[in-house]
Amino acid sequence: SKRSITVIPGDGIGPSIIDAALRIMDHAGCDFHYDYADAGLTALENHGELLPQTTLDLIAKNKIALKGPLTTPVGGGFTSINVSLRKLFNLYANVRPVVSFEGTQSRFENIDIITIRENTEGMYSGAGQKRAEDNSSAEAMSIITREGAERIVTFAYELARNEGRKKVTVVHKANILKSTSGLFLEVAREVSQRYPDIETAEMIVDAACMNLVMYPERFDVIVTTNLFGDILSDLCAGLVGGLGMAPGANIGKEVAIFEAVHGSAPDIAGQNIANPCSVILASIQMLEHLGLADKAAQIRTAVAKTIAEGKTVTRDLGGNASTTEFTDAIIANL
Ligand code: NAI
Ligand code: MG
Repeated sequence: SKRSITVIPGDGIGPSIIDAALRIMDHAGCDFHYDYADAGLTALENHGELLPQTTLDLIAKNKIALKGPLTTPVGGGFTSINVSLRKLFNLYANVRPVVSFEGTQSRFENIDIITIRENTEGMYSGAGQKRAEDNSSAEAMSIITREGAERIVTFAYELARNEGRKKVTVVHKANILKSTSGLFLEVAREVSQRYPDIETAEMIVDAACMNLVMYPERFDVIVTTNLFGDILSDLCAGLVGGLGMAPGANIGKEVAIFEAVHGSAPDIAGQNIANPCSVILASIQMLEHLGLADKAAQIRTAVAKTIAEGKTVTRDLGGNASTTEFTDAIIANL
């Protein structure tokens, strides 16, 4: 029987770029059954809640989901749906690869960096969020556990080993955040001892920002805590042509959710001009995760060829094609 995948089209530009990825996978001969589910603003409108139980059930049933960006309404006390999904399914590893494609507007060539972001702890654990009633002060708690740190750093080294990568850079701020970042670094040093075949580097997060912009070729795999990983992965997207080129996978023991790094882009929604590559590259990550490396490679080659030709790309890549025209061109190159 066909493998079922839960598809969450999402909000804003989501449905158009998800549709692009599904069309490309279908043309590449992937034989999936898609179970559609709502989340985000779309779900609030259709079902009265941001994250309906039926959606959670479909994610749990199929174990694999491809998800468009979701809009979390500002105010009204809504917690981020993405943060909720990551916590509910314990998707502890956020894997965000950036790769240079010839023909993008990027200042760099030959970039190939994977940021592994801890996805459930740190500043985003949601713990201890407090605001004084008179708004005179606010506080939030950052939580790092030995177990969480060990799990994510081990994940990074295992990925490095499996993909034949040479180096893991541990990014931290242990000099100032001695308790939290200090524990993360301490655990990372212990884990690194088990991987003598892989070079380990340590870098303070501010220095990492400068070095990523000046010498991105020095980076291979980055492993870091939640907030730093959120910020650094957008920086990395900027090294390869912007958010339209940046996919991410949220991986847990049971479930994996593949998505774009960016949001619902309300400023360009409904205009059919979004770059679909973020979700297409996320679908490539999904195919690799499912052991379909040949399909993944086939789609990657078609994307690379279309961008290199440069005739039919979206405006963020220097062209003037619509999302649909860009997708059609990739399909023609399959
Ligand atoms: P955003 O990532 O949606 O947009 C930032 C800028 O990048 C915008 O100028 C947008 O037009 C551009 N952009 C993003 N994706 C693009 C693409 N595929 N092609 C071309 N240009 C693209 O960030 P913003 O505006 O801060 O957030 C909008 C909404 O998205 C918010 O409600 C936020 O909560 C949500 N969000 C959701 C995420 C998710 O579901 N994973 C992640 C980040 C934000
Ligand atoms: Mg982010």
